[in-house]
Amino acid sequence: MSYMNRKRHKIIGFIFIISVVIFGFYLLATSTERKLAKIGYSADEINFIVSRLDATQMSPILENKYLPEMRQILESQTAPADFRSEKLNEYIQAQRKYNFEPKLTVQLVNHSDYDNDEEYNERRIHILYEEYYLPQNKDRYFTLEAKNAEMPENEIIARVNANRDRDYYTDTMEADALSGHLILVNKYYFLDQAFEVDLVEQSASYGSVGERMEAETYAAFEKMFQAAQDDGYQLYVTSGYRGYDEQAEVFATYLSEGGEAHALQYAAKPGYSEHQTGRAIDIFTPGETTKTFAASPVAKWLAEHAYKYGFILRYPAGKEDITGYNFEPWHYRYVGQEAATDIQQHNITLEEYVAVFKQ
Ligand code: DAL
Ligand code: ZN
Repeated sequence: MSYMNRKRHKIIGFIFIISVVIFGFYLLATSTERKLAKIGYSADEINFIVSRLDATQMSPILENKYLPEMRQILESQTAPADFRSEKLNEYIQAQRKYNFEPKLTVQLVNHSDYDNDEEYNERRIHILYEEYYLPQNKDRYFTLEAKNAEMPENEIIARVNANRDRDYYTDTMEADALSGHLILVNKYYFLDQAFEVDLVEQSASYGSVGERMEAETYAAFEKMFQAAQDDGYQLYVTSGYRGYDEQAEVFATYLSEGGEAHALQYAAKPGYSEHQTGRAIDIFTPGETTKTFAASPVAKWLAEHAYKYGFILRYPAGKEDITGYNFEPWHYRYVGQEAATDIQQHNITLEEYVAVFKQ
């Protein structure tokens, strides 16, 4: 072989190797697209899929047959991170089953409580993402949802968290005395007849003679009384601690005055009143009665300022179905400053607060 021939062979060989390498790179670079095309995705779909997913997210798609919902699911992403490749089959199954907005499908399947065997609708997905959703109450939310097609999702959450999906005074439990100022006493939680609390008798200048309060509640009340006075208002406590027997009398009075339905709306049965904790006080101002107090400047002052001293308006208007009582503008409950501030800021009841914040 001549020198020129050898040289030509070398050049051809070199070009051949370069071509193989370039072709190899080409195959590597295009293999995802080619595989997607082979599965049946259109060029448009392929561009979209490739632009949204990295290699790990891609692999389950490459292992699956053509999924016409794929593009919808991907388009539904609020951020690429929402798409979890390990859930691909579940997205597709759920999308086929429910045909929700794909964004909702992704949200649903991504939720840690998603269960393939459960039946969902849009309201149930919203419930899963409600602010005060508690996993342990999921079935109860869904049951209430099924019974109340018109009830807003946040109301469903609030009611269940407050046990209002159960009848009053049924399956009652003993109140958790270890909760201190956060003790929850209502139509579901009772106090033992012998419940003991450290009580202080109030000064005659604060209201009815002989009324008593739990010691820290009293100290907080004194500060609030002073602040109200500084603003030109006089607080007047007509009722503080009420023992079991005294509460029985209160309930009996309401009963004889207005019958059972009326009594149940305004008074607790003995053992179920938070007045028995020593931390509930009925506050008025001289000259006002239960009928007139709500519209008085003192009631407004309390509603605005009481939380700073650790007190909450315990039975607010509009929350009757959560607390189980009619609006009582005079009934304040000591829970401590931190809880009172949270409750005020979030506009929630003690029932909701204890369920959500005190896990
Ligand atoms: N009035 C409140 C609800 C009570 O009797 O404890
Ligand atoms: Zn009261």
